[in-house]
Amino acid sequence: MVEILPSILSADFAHLGEAVAAVERGGATVIHVDVMDGHFVPNITIGPPVVKSLRKATKLPLDCHLMIERPDEFIPAFAEAGADWVSVHVEACRHLHRTLELIAQKGMKPGVVINPATPVESTLEILPMVHHVLVMSVNPGFGGQKFIPFSLEKIRKLVNLRQEMGLQFRIEVDGGVAQETIAQIVHSGAELLVAGNAIYGAGDPERNMRELLARAQRAANAQITPQ
Ligand code: DX5
Ligand code: ZN
Repeated sequence: MVEILPSILSADFAHLGEAVAAVERGGATVIHVDVMDGHFVPNITIGPPVVKSLRKATKLPLDCHLMIERPDEFIPAFAEAGADWVSVHVEACRHLHRTLELIAQKGMKPGVVINPATPVESTLEILPMVHHVLVMSVNPGFGGQKFIPFSLEKIRKLVNLRQEMGLQFRIEVDGGVAQETIAQIVHSGAELLVAGNAIYGAGDPERNMRELLARAQRAANAQITPQ
């Protein structure tokens, strides 16, 4: 099933409760939370205290995308704050297997993230451990960037690997997901679509959410209905 995960990175941080309520009315099923430390990526955003407040504002699962160095040091605090899914970057983890085990031990769903320049194959050994694989389709750090087309090929590779290995992990894509790009992304096989700017950048987030989801669902249906 295709789902849109609004990224609150592009929302008004002074009104996050309303930002989340609006997309929930529009059909959002998971909220994407971008955590940046100013070291792994050239930007700083939010941490466990904000996750704790979001936890009170919504019942939807909180998908925390950690763009930070030394994630192990912060994973317990995210669990405490109420995070549901936690993903870490291959590029930021010296002991990725240990980090994924820690996330699972803390009762959260572990995910692995790969930057645009990182090959899908770098996740091969740990694929049986993850709930989701997040393919970055922009270089992480900022919202509103342009979708990198070769990400589609990486998603297709993951779909094939999942089938060959008999696994169940979900495939998530993050960066540049918008009305113009969403159909090809769905056709490539991604099912968890993160969208920041397309939802919170301009206009009404509830309506943007509804329209983006409708387009994603149309693209998914077109794929299964013979033409
Ligand atoms: C980028 C973040 C994304 C970002 C996506 O570093 O990981 O989640 O919010 O934003 P858009 O949808 O604007 O490309
Ligand atoms: Zn993200």
